[in-house]
Amino acid sequence: MTTEERNSLLHGMQCGDLAESALSHGEGCYAGNTMPIPRLGVPALKMQDAACGFRPPRDAIGTSTCFPSMLALSSTWDTSLVKAYAKSVAEEFRGKGANVFLGPAINVHRTAYGGRNYEYLSGEDPHLGAVLTRAFVQAVQNEGVMAVAKHFAFNEQETGRMYNDAWVDKRTAWELYYPPWEAAVEAGVSAVMCSYNRVNGSYACASHEILQRDLKGTMGFHGFVVSDWWAVHGKDFVTNGLDLEMPNAKYLSDDRLASLPRDSVDAAALRVLATIYRLRLDEMPGCTPGGQDCAAEMRSNQASKEHRAVARSVATSAVTLLKNDGTLPFDKSDKKARYTIAIVGVAANQRGDSSPSGEFMADYYSGGGSGHCQSSSLVTPLDGIKQRAISAGISVLASTSNNITHAFEVAQIADVVVVIAAATSTEGVDRFSLALDDNVDDLIFAVAKIRPTVVLMQTPGAVLTPWRDNVAAIANLFLPGEEAGSAWAAMLFGDVSPAGKLPIVFPASIADTVGPDFSIEMPYSEGQKTSYRSASIRAAFPFGHGLAYTRFELSKPIVMTAGCHAIICIRIMISNVGERPGTEVAQAYLEFPPPAGMPSRVLRGFHKTSLLQPGQSEQVEFALSTRDMSSYQDNTGWVKWDNIQMHIGVSSADIRHVIALAPGAIPVLFQTKHRLRSRRAQDSL
Ligand code: GLC
Repeated sequence: MTTEERNSLLHGMQCGDLAESALSHGEGCYAGNTMPIPRLGVPALKMQDAACGFRPPRDAIGTSTCFPSMLALSSTWDTSLVKAYAKSVAEEFRGKGANVFLGPAINVHRTAYGGRNYEYLSGEDPHLGAVLTRAFVQAVQNEGVMAVAKHFAFNEQETGRMYNDAWVDKRTAWELYYPPWEAAVEAGVSAVMCSYNRVNGSYACASHEILQRDLKGTMGFHGFVVSDWWAVHGKDFVTNGLDLEMPNAKYLSDDRLASLPRDSVDAAALRVLATIYRLRLDEMPGCTPGGQDCAAEMRSNQASKEHRAVARSVATSAVTLLKNDGTLPFDKSDKKARYTIAIVGVAANQRGDSSPSGEFMADYYSGGGSGHCQSSSLVTPLDGIKQRAISAGISVLASTSNNITHAFEVAQIADVVVVIAAATSTEGVDRFSLALDDNVDDLIFAVAKIRPTVVLMQTPGAVLTPWRDNVAAIANLFLPGEEAGSAWAAMLFGDVSPAGKLPIVFPASIADTVGPDFSIEMPYSEGQKTSYRSASIRAAFPFGHGLAYTRFELSKPIVMTAGCHAIICIRIMISNVGERPGTEVAQAYLEFPPPAGMPSRVLRGFHKTSLLQPGQSEQVEFALSTRDMSSYQDNTGWVKWDNIQMHIGVSSADIRHVIALAPGAIPVLFQTKHRLRSRRAQDSL
């Protein structure tokens, strides 16, 4: 390999008119491209976003599936759906000639105002994030497409993202924000994208502390660190852990690389090469960025009815029923012979912006920025509900505005009103408000006075629900992609039982979240006390909450004495004791003894049941590892504890049973590089 060839592995290649931006690239150019080395059989890396599938070029809208947002995927708590989603996306990437998926974005949410919360698979919990991230990364890479876990690290807000400085102590980092990245590393993630912001005084992409010490050292990451676009500000980033500058060689030019220690440059090149060969991208080099072959592949239609079905299945499973007084599902059999629904709200038929300038614009189906996707076959809420209602012999009236007078005209004729309410958000800017858009709160209060009202929300994250005590039913769907209307219809008419669970808290007021920091210095002084882990945060709807059209009972937990391949296993039975089929997510929260220094009980296990028919039961086991039963101590690392209580329930606030995991014993101290040194050591703990 010549020096120039080696250097070409450390930066993106100029492709098309990058002056405009890396996001509106030139002919046949992906969001990120590296130079192929045909002489040596080294393929180009062809990278594309991400948040809801393959972001199509502006002149090829509709040639890829607009999947639900990652936060919608998170609200399914379902690793089999995560794998189906990731596999479908990776198949479209391969078809489009791309071999690097610029995701999943896995930051644990810190503030409800976060502009990219819709993109962040972890929601507000590190354990949920770790489990879903592991499944997603493995499924993408099984298709021969690299996954890139982003944005490392502490990029939990958009305000000041290019320069602000997150100050985070080690315990908060390892307990709350790092676990999804550890899971990505364990899953063999190809790359980690370092973020724009600074961490503890250094740019994330130049931070020896988080890149060399934490990621490559303690977590044992062997892939490569790629910068966010234009997040590199000097050549020394390489000696501190950066391996690949994107989108081009703004800093890592040949002459600057020549002035760096050769072993640092070689090490970076080796990580990129090794990862290419680990995924065997060399076996399918594909088109060359900037060429007509790539242009043709980028325009090729990779959307399919199979992928559309996956998008519909995820969106349907992501619908989270927050409240229901029995009004739902609409089932004509037990209602008056003639049944009329009024659908109101501007969001009912909002079609998103499918113009070329809309390439990055936020709408009610996909968030804004690099992760935006557009669809040419969108099912709006009105489309989906109307079509399903008619097939059920139910009449539908509509007032697709937020005008209260117009809404009253249809509400007074209807038996029930369905308000479609929404908000959205975008990369680069945090949300200014947690309220739903266009003063729809006023519309909801008004119609709820005259008719039973069902509120269906399409949101980018948490929203305020001041009318929650005034309405009959409430459901939420995080930015749902092209199958939004189909998902709402299936839930409203009882074709499916709602299965979603909140991966975040819906706060009772704006006081019940950590606000974005507007200062350059961002001390994470709240530590782990965000979301359900904070005693001062009041929830309108708690983390892990989600209703079904039936009820479930959880049996008393027992400690398994046989067949347990972990430190301790707890077994329960979940039974459907209602009249309709449904699924439930059993959740296990561990309460540590006070010396462990944990803020509250924390999620350390969950299990989503299959669809249980009335009277049917399913056995659930929570198998805890040593790490699950440990807390991070600043000076000694992970310490395993006994005297732990397991709280088992169906949300962080609906606990059904508590079981003591072991009699009191002194905390057993163990040092681990990442995993226990040996099985024997683990058994002896
Ligand atoms: C953006 C985003 C990142 C994206 C990249 C390429 O600025 O921060 O998530 O993958 O640039 O579009």
